[in-house]
Amino acid sequence: MGRLDGQVAIITGGARGIGEGICEIFCNEGATVALWDVLEIGDSTANRISSKGGSIFFQKVNITSKNEVEEAVKEIIIKYKKIDILINNAGVIRDRSFMKMSQQEWDTVININLNSLYITTKAVLPYMKEAGYGRIISASSINGFQGAFGQVNYAATKAGVSGFTRALCKEVGRYGITVNAVAPGFIKSEMSDSMPDEVIKSSIAMIPVGRIGSAEDMGYTYLFLASKEAGFISGTTLHANGGAMPT
Ligand SMILES: NC(=O)c1ccc[n+]([C@@H]2O[C@H](COP(=O)([O-])OP(=O)(O)OC[C@H]3O[C@@H](n4cnc5c(N)ncnc54)[C@H](O)[C@@H]3O)[C@@H](O)[C@H]2O)c1
Repeated sequence: MGRLDGQVAIITGGARGIGEGICEIFCNEGATVALWDVLEIGDSTANRISSKGGSIFFQKVNITSKNEVEEAVKEIIIKYKKIDILINNAGVIRDRSFMKMSQQEWDTVININLNSLYITTKAVLPYMKEAGYGRIISASSINGFQGAFGQVNYAATKAGVSGFTRALCKEVGRYGITVNAVAPGFIKSEMSDSMPDEVIKSSIAMIPVGRIGSAEDMGYTYLFLASKEAGFISGTTLHANGGAMPT
């Protein structure tokens, strides 16, 4: 018996990193997963997980495109008739000190990390409302709470994700839909690998559990909020950071 048996989940940014970890754990727990990403490697990620018995398929979707999102949702509904879980995980960084940050670096991060939530969440909500059940969980970040040098754009989006979560939960709770966010701390992925070595070392030194987090750690965190058992938790941001920023 898996904790997500019979459930249909969309996981954005599932091709690699934290999203890949969420896809793997959700499949192990019996969910059928639509892996959304702009990267073609999403296809091989889905194949790797399905070769181990997971029910997963890749849809090439840019979450900033209303058309692409709506088309992909339509395909899922035709085939599976419902969407139980939406994981808004995809995100990007374009780090630069604010004085030097270009409008494009600002806009890209705002569009992918925050504006996309308007598109993806709006596309699935009618189906969740009709079913009287839903789990919407979005990626915030420790840096949306504590800030970080060079991440004014990113921190603004991640604080925004938590605000989106707190407000939307008040509107949709009556339909059996919970809305939550996960604020990862420092997690190993292509995104964190791109940071300078000294930043990586000093970040790990500030984590009380003494290590960087893994995609698997995040997969289990999202699993908890996505489970039926978490039905009384809504509007919250779950901080998963090894104690780096106690809340
Ligand atoms: N890694 C960390 O330390 C860390 C910490 C806090 C928060 N987060 C957040 O967790 C999430 C996942 O991070 P990660 O470290 O796995 O990053 P990652 O860069 O490894 O993976 C992000 C995925 O999102 C996809 N993506 C980007 N733009 C997209 C778009 N427009 N449409 C569809 N897919 C798109 C990418 O192709 C990629 O596969 C992000 O929202 C990130 O901000 C990560």
